[in-house]
Amino acid sequence: MPPAPSELAYIPFVSVENMMRLVHHVGIETVLLELTDAVEADFRRWNAFEKTPRMASHSRQGVIELMPTSDGEIFGFKYVNGHPGNAAKGFQTVAAFGLLARVDTGYPLVLTEMTLLTALRTAATSAMAARHLAPPGAKVMAMIGNGAQAEFQALAMKAVVGIEEVRLYDIDPRATQKTARNLGKSGLRVIACASSQEAVAGAQIITTCTADKAYATILTDNMVGAGVHINAIGGDCPGKTELHRDILARASTFVEFEPQTRIEGEIQQMDASYPVTEIWRVLTGDAEGRRDPRQITLFDSVGFAIEDFAALRYVYSKLQGTDFFQPIDMVADPDDPRDLFGMLLRAA
Ligand SMILES: NC(=O)c1ccc[n+]([C@@H]2O[C@H](COP(=O)([O-])OP(=O)(O)OC[C@H]3O[C@@H](n4cnc5c(N)ncnc54)[C@H](O)[C@@H]3O)[C@@H](O)[C@H]2O)c1
Repeated sequence: MPPAPSELAYIPFVSVENMMRLVHHVGIETVLLELTDAVEADFRRWNAFEKTPRMASHSRQGVIELMPTSDGEIFGFKYVNGHPGNAAKGFQTVAAFGLLARVDTGYPLVLTEMTLLTALRTAATSAMAARHLAPPGAKVMAMIGNGAQAEFQALAMKAVVGIEEVRLYDIDPRATQKTARNLGKSGLRVIACASSQEAVAGAQIITTCTADKAYATILTDNMVGAGVHINAIGGDCPGKTELHRDILARASTFVEFEPQTRIEGEIQQMDASYPVTEIWRVLTGDAEGRRDPRQITLFDSVGFAIEDFAALRYVYSKLQGTDFFQPIDMVADPDDPRDLFGMLLRAA
């Protein structure tokens, strides 16, 4: 029997099962509200972070990405994929895990599943943008694309923005039925629609969340009336968009991190002079958000590392004194730091 690993070897690991337990323990809407505040707090200290467009490894089938950032004290990264053809094979479109580490020693602090956490943080980020950009008092949201992210989006907009009705549309009616069923007890009025035109009727917020590695046109210009807020989530990598460019020509567009969104967002359709505002500037009062009731605001979301950093820190903050994690001996930590080989021999 080799000796047991040292104290320093152990890192809390949040499995999928424990993430599920943690979310229900706190309450889904409370998690979404608290995460929205956590993401906003980190966006407000934008200048404290190291920022880089994510590292993306593209293939014909999809993309695998690494999303790192640091605030000088803590470093975080997420591994995430995006494979639009996965669902047909029984795999998820998006799956993820992530890690936080101390900057001073480089030792990890926590390792966690992030597939559920990505859906939560994406919804929280959408809600954060909507609470600053959507028309005041927005009560109705159209949700086009009723896949894995859909319920999270609807619940975050309910909890944070106060929407009361969600109008669902998906090219696959089974996806709409699934979402309607899952939202059955949410307190939202859920309307299943037969077309995207029907879904956007009367909506003050339009969320597009479809998956197709193509220049798709989920929304055409005539579908977007004055004063609407568009929360465009699905267009999030090169060659993958959801909005007709005429909508962009009419909209005031807000982004997470401009250098990344120019490559990956809806705005890849526009030339480099197309004006955008980074959302952190609105949050800090440095730039104007919605300024008139007829303005079309667009949050061109692609997902940015600071959102994952905030979500990882949020989960980490909830672990103390709970059993929502397992300690795993992830770091090889010999008693004599230079005797790594000696440590290996102990198991011979
Ligand atoms: N911006 C972000 O931060 C962020 C985060 C997570 C996921 N995403 C992206 O969001 C998209 C959706 O993710 P998901 O996990 O919900 O995927 P998913 O595959 O579970 O769901 C996508 C849904 O879109 C539907 N769809 C495809 N084409 C459509 C069309 N033309 N009209 C209506 N519905 C259509 C599909 O039938 C499916 O139900 C993906 O492209 C993903 O990369 C973005």
